[in-house]
Amino acid sequence: MIAIVTGASSGIGKEFVRQITSHYKNINEIWVIARRTERLKTLQKMVNVKLVPITLDLINPDSIKVLKKMLKERSPKVKLLVNSAGFGQVGGFTDMDCKYSTDMIAVNCTALTAITHTVLPYITYNGRIIQIASSAAFLPQPDFAVYAATKSYVLSFSRALNIELKRRKIKVTAVCPGPVKTEFFDLAEKTGKLAEYKKYFFVDAVKVVRKALIDSVDGKELSIYSIPMKAFYILTKTVPHRIILKIYK
Ligand SMILES: NC(=O)c1ccc[n+]([C@@H]2O[C@H](COP(=O)([O-])OP(=O)(O)OC[C@H]3O[C@@H](n4cnc5c(N)ncnc54)[C@H](OP(=O)(O)O)[C@@H]3O)[C@@H](O)[C@H]2O)c1
Repeated sequence: MIAIVTGASSGIGKEFVRQITSHYKNINEIWVIARRTERLKTLQKMVNVKLVPITLDLINPDSIKVLKKMLKERSPKVKLLVNSAGFGQVGGFTDMDCKYSTDMIAVNCTALTAITHTVLPYITYNGRIIQIASSAAFLPQPDFAVYAATKSYVLSFSRALNIELKRRKIKVTAVCPGPVKTEFFDLAEKTGKLAEYKKYFFVDAVKVVRKALIDSVDGKELSIYSIPMKAFYILTKTVPHRIILKIYK
């Protein structure tokens, strides 16, 4: 039985690789996907199951063919798929390079969709899919517009898929963290600064991932770590978005 994790070279994805076998005892191999091969190789010392590093640039749609071929050749039983690869950029939409915005959609939405579609035939009855969305999915976010839109896609897609896969008893969990201490913001803050108030809500990837794995085992459709983020979720469900957006800036 295997797990497949994208975005495994860093942050949340890497933490999933470290914690998976504590929650899924029958997983004996993890396929780890990212661009930085060296980093993927160093993960092996963190875990005591076999890791299979797969170097893919998910901006390139052809990269999925590599995964498709490996799956066809090895025909593994996939217990868990974690789609964690993703990136964002803070700043005004017109200040951002257009290609950077479309690449963000390519990785955060297109690749996540293609990987889910490619892996699904191999996911076992009662298997699990974890999609890393974000609390940015709850509300449109000026100065984080494209990123928030990509994460709304992930959340909406995951919830619908969760219903579609009921017959196979596969549960899809959308993970919606607020700011997490990873390398994410080193990249994200290249064109603009993160809103000051967000700095008070940073949490540790270890805790976000632990909760996500527990929620996934329990078959929950949503995993939201921390009381402030749960409160934010309720706010965005109860107060009209145009009112929140008025006081946002
Ligand atoms: N950190 C936060 O505050 C936060 C909050 C909510 C949601 N999230 C989401 O959590 C997920 C993981 O982010 P993180 O915080 O762990 O950030 P991170 O430390 O920067 O990790 C991002 C991962 O995505 C991979 N990736 C990026 N572009 C890729 C590409 N073109 N092809 C293949 N892999 C690519 C990176 O691998 P390589 O660079 O080696 O390719 C890396 O493993 C993302 O989807 C992010 O949107 C993060």
